[in-house]
Amino acid sequence: MAESNTDTKSSNQMWGGRFASGPDAIMEEINASIGFDKKLFAQDIRGSIAHATMLAHQGIISTEDKDKIVHGLNTILSEIESGNFEFSRQLEDIHMNIEARLATLIGPAAGRLHTARSRNDQVALDFRLWVKEELEKTEKMLTGLIAAFLDRAEEHAESVMPGFTHLQTAQPVTFGHHCMAYVEMFGRDRSRVRHAIEHLDESPIGAAALAGTGYPIDRHMTAKALGFREPTRNSIDTVSDRDFAIEFLAIAAITGMHLSRLAEEIVIWSTPQFGFVRLSDAFSTGSSIMPQKKNPDAAELVRAKTGRINGSLIALLTIMKGLPLAYSKDMQEDKEQVFDAAESLELAIAAMTGMVRDMTVNTARMKAAAGSGFSTATDLADWLVREAGLPFREAHHVTGRAVALAESKGCDLAELPLADLQAIHSAITDKVYDVLTVEASVASRKSFGGTAPSEVRKQIAFWRARN
Ligand code: ARG
Repeated sequence: MAESNTDTKSSNQMWGGRFASGPDAIMEEINASIGFDKKLFAQDIRGSIAHATMLAHQGIISTEDKDKIVHGLNTILSEIESGNFEFSRQLEDIHMNIEARLATLIGPAAGRLHTARSRNDQVALDFRLWVKEELEKTEKMLTGLIAAFLDRAEEHAESVMPGFTHLQTAQPVTFGHHCMAYVEMFGRDRSRVRHAIEHLDESPIGAAALAGTGYPIDRHMTAKALGFREPTRNSIDTVSDRDFAIEFLAIAAITGMHLSRLAEEIVIWSTPQFGFVRLSDAFSTGSSIMPQKKNPDAAELVRAKTGRINGSLIALLTIMKGLPLAYSKDMQEDKEQVFDAAESLELAIAAMTGMVRDMTVNTARMKAAAGSGFSTATDLADWLVREAGLPFREAHHVTGRAVALAESKGCDLAELPLADLQAIHSAITDKVYDVLTVEASVASRKSFGGTAPSEVRKQIAFWRARN
């Protein structure tokens, strides 16, 4: 074992000037991030090309050297993309792996690339670029999920289902209205994504180690070349800041929480007991022992991924909370949390979009359930207020007696004979039966944002215009 370590015992070629020997094997293992930060290769190369171009423009390096550097970096890009690049753990991270390869390819000119920058601003840049792209991807995926819900909402603007509070039947609503609740939730998530993109849209490169640099660099130029709105304004904050990563995780956690509530509803709705929806074969699995089963595994896994994403958010908040300004190596632990959460979130949104598009809605079961559990009791109370002039509290009490009577007779409110209702309150007429159906109940709830099909259609139109 000791012999095989001879290479690691020579000091690091990037920073080993004052080191007599290389790191212990354990040091190398705990220190290296190449295992995961190689994901940042494209961002690292983009950043280096922009930096070298700016250095040449400012006369800090020669145009010949810049051309060699850019050419070499492009070669490395295709080497990595085609799988012909050997990553080395001894070179710690993606930045040093690429720079070392550049030296092999173009010789001494490679050593000029790191002028006026540090790995601290370099990693901040690479990671920001990566998170920005991920947020843009998330925005598109949420738009797809919202579109899936809008289609289902339109299709079911009139389909009645029970609305629940405490998971107990409350009042009839439409399935379209219920779908639109998710449109609101994912719409908020998407606007959080947009705000996060705005927050992180500042270029870190040029902050250098923490204090800026004495070279006459042009940070506005690199910011523009890399597609950022402007450069960051404080070099210390720039290399200390991981808010953009934490914000991504916070958004992922909130979106995940929404996805998980949806997953839970799908799990409940797809039970034989509810039977509101049937999942497509594409998004369910069977049991190896019970032939009758169709399990909502995808929904369950979406629910579980949320736990994992929450873990990442708490991990990074905890990693950052005690760090003095500016950079500390602790911050290297940011990436795995974000990469893992991003993968989970993408999968969860994609799986949900598929499930929502594919599931079969059993409107007959929903309607039958909507009418049970005395779901139109509030409509009876409202009728007594409107037609018989009772104060709502008294109407509530009268209705409660009617519900108790129906319950004792084992029938629905609408099935109680008029004489029974009149015995409870003499002002009741046969007109009351008009409001006791589930259709009448939902159609009456025309208040802004209410469940009446006419209202739901208005909200669908509102979101269609914004999606
Ligand atoms: N691999 C490091 C990270 O991800 C790069 C920055 C290293 N900077 C340093 N001063 N050691 O954070």
